[in-house]
Amino acid sequence: MSVIEVENLTQDYLTGFWRKRSVRALDSLSLQIASGEVFGLLGPNGAGKTTTFKILLGLIRPTTGSAWILGSAIDDVAMRRRIGYLPEQPYFYDYLTAREFLLYCGALCDLPKTEAAERADKLLHQVGLADSADKQLRKFSKGMLQRVGLAQALIHDPEVLFLDEPMSGLDPLGRREVRDFVVGLRAQGKTIFFSSHILADVEAMCDRVAILNKGRLIESGKLSEILKAHSNELEVVVSGVTEPALAEIRSLALSISASPDNARIRLKDDRDLARMLELTHAAGGRIVSVNPVRESLEDLFVREVKGS
Ligand SMILES: Nc1ncnc2c1ncn2[C@@H]1O[C@H](COP(=O)(O)OP(=O)(O)O)[C@@H](O)[C@H]1O
Ligand SMILES: [Mg+2]
Repeated sequence: MSVIEVENLTQDYLTGFWRKRSVRALDSLSLQIASGEVFGLLGPNGAGKTTTFKILLGLIRPTTGSAWILGSAIDDVAMRRRIGYLPEQPYFYDYLTAREFLLYCGALCDLPKTEAAERADKLLHQVGLADSADKQLRKFSKGMLQRVGLAQALIHDPEVLFLDEPMSGLDPLGRREVRDFVVGLRAQGKTIFFSSHILADVEAMCDRVAILNKGRLIESGKLSEILKAHSNELEVVVSGVTEPALAEIRSLALSISASPDNARIRLKDDRDLARMLELTHAAGGRIVSVNPVRESLEDLFVREVKGS
């Protein structure tokens, strides 16, 4: 059974001074997300990701269409207690400490005080903020605040989590931490629906993705199936190969980009691979990696948007 079921959601926003102009932010979106899935909603800025979350969280009413979470309609109050939400731009009370903020969030969802305190402690530990629990939030870095946001979304131990761009604005270390944290939540059996405009973030942790562009679903499924293999091309990275050997490799390659440390060689298919490895070894070089060339998200957009 689907934990999140979205059927034909359409959202028109009225804009302009007289609110007469209508902008379609979401156009007949349908999705199903199964229990225990980590599902990524991927799309460029303005694609309609936040709008989708706002509808599912009951913050705005869709123009048309319906959605169900855990089998209940989205305005069902009992269901709301079983879901957690990290907004794209969470609001924090600067002068509360991390612990006070979590206790406050616990109180908002009617958690008994002792239970909230226990959960807050456990979560602060899990998100790596145990040492900063009693520091005021105004002294937190962006990455630390994001982790407080995650803890906040989990204070009532929800079954389903909505994370709107949980990695935006984070440095590589921060992204990594959030990613590992989400992977840990998946292991606990939570269903996670999150959005991002960055392919790499989605790639690392999703079971399935949906790709939105201008409010329309352009693809959904496993990322490996969506991003077409670029014919049979391979990218071989080698190091320690000097110019004379590179010249010979060049004749096999579709293209080469060389830096002082290594060379990236693109081959049409694996037929030239054996010869390439031979040349590399003969020149005293080393193979760093061999990978099929995959389409990037950018390529996919160009293909889909131009095609439609
Ligand atoms: N409150 C609003 N009023 C008018 N237009 C809006 C409003 N919120 C979003 N939009 C428009 O709807 C589209 C989708 O926005 P959004 O859901 O925020 O996209 P994303 O989160 O993918 O960046 C954009 O064109 C945006 O400008
Ligand atoms: Mg957004």
